[in-house]
Amino acid sequence: MSAPPSGGSATAQNPPSGPWPSPPSPLPASLPPAPPTPAAVWEVIHGFRRYWALVAALDLGLFEALASGPLDAAGLAEAVGVDAHRAGLLADALVAMELLTAAPTATPAAGPAGAPAQTPPGPADDAAGPGGLRYALGLVAANYLLTDGQRSMARLVREAPGPHERWPELAETLRRGAPSARVEDDPGAFYPNLARGTAPIQRAVAAAVARELTAARGPAPLVVDLGAGAAPWALAFLEAWPAARGLAVELPEVVHVTREAAAADPAGDRLDVVAGSFHRVELPEAGADVVVLGHVLRTEPRGGARRLVARAAAALRPGGTLVVADYPRPETPSPAATTETLMALTILATTGGQGAFHAADLRAWARAAGLELGPTYTPLPGQTVLTATRPGGTAPRPVARPGLRPLGSVFPPSESRE
Ligand SMILES: C[S@@+](CC[C@H](N)C(=O)[O-])C[C@H]1O[C@@H](n2cnc3c(N)ncnc32)[C@H](O)[C@@H]1O
Repeated sequence: MSAPPSGGSATAQNPPSGPWPSPPSPLPASLPPAPPTPAAVWEVIHGFRRYWALVAALDLGLFEALASGPLDAAGLAEAVGVDAHRAGLLADALVAMELLTAAPTATPAAGPAGAPAQTPPGPADDAAGPGGLRYALGLVAANYLLTDGQRSMARLVREAPGPHERWPELAETLRRGAPSARVEDDPGAFYPNLARGTAPIQRAVAAAVARELTAARGPAPLVVDLGAGAAPWALAFLEAWPAARGLAVELPEVVHVTREAAAADPAGDRLDVVAGSFHRVELPEAGADVVVLGHVLRTEPRGGARRLVARAAAALRPGGTLVVADYPRPETPSPAATTETLMALTILATTGGQGAFHAADLRAWARAAGLELGPTYTPLPGQTVLTATRPGGTAPRPVARPGLRPLGSVFPPSESRE
């Protein structure tokens, strides 16, 4: 051990008198502090490995292979078209990531004298691994990683970090103030897959929020969804309110995704889809019962975001509700706020946006636009769904409740729409 940091371990009884404890004793009252383990650094390195292991599993269809029941490495190998040894190693990594579980296969039958049956090691033994394991989907994988699952994030895994090639240049982006290419410079290249990827889980979130805003509406309520993507928000409200009509606004380069989603949804024939920028398309003045800004403010410059909130507020009829869903930057960074903190960095790394706003900014803009703040929900880790209502009108307001329960408890794993 080298010299302790000066003054780092002084106590009231043993004040520091120099770089070494003095006088020396067999059991010194103060010892140099032990360094922490490097586990946190390994965790970061593992993050990269975990991400690509998950992408590989999705590319191979490994979760689908386990959807109808557990398999050993040989069975898994056959199902995903990879040699058994390699399939087993990937499956082991997914067990370490808590996406799969592994249980020993039934022990081989004992010989007549109670000795284990002797079977020569061969390819099948290698495939099963030491002891032989059967792999099964964990609950998280069963709920979120099956491609056609109701709340699937399988497509989102690839898109959520933004264009992958932006990350290695992050230091340069931070120096320069913008990435070498911004997502919004070519919206048709990135947003369609992001919109498709995020739609299933956002549809589940939006359905839960729509259930909370059950206030009676007029005879033909209007729901406006700005930056709709695959319209999870508009379609969830239309499903919840059978008499409602919707208006979805999406960029011309991406609007085909909105149209596809509407065409595939039973409520989609009540959704009008408009191609254009939410900053410019004509919006109904004081005519909407709900206006949704779903994950769109964060890529806007501050002034643009504030103006968009004001536009949305002006489109609300008295008593109508603005719904803003986003991952606001936390006031205090902490491990508990990892999702929203890294979301802010993603925006900085991949767009010309400023890395997300604080929830306090969103509230201030809503108030400045003449709205009264309503309940706020946190359906997903780090996600904030803020509501604010235009004063006036006779319809009952959304009722403040303790908050939407986390998605995992709102939708038990057994529930399925497939
Ligand atoms: C992160 S996605 C969110 C999609 C959906 N609202 C949701 O919450 O899942 C952002 C969407 O906003 C759209 N968008 C970005 N700028 C826009 C603009 N100026 N006008 C209309 N749509 C825009 C993008 O094309 C993209 O589909």
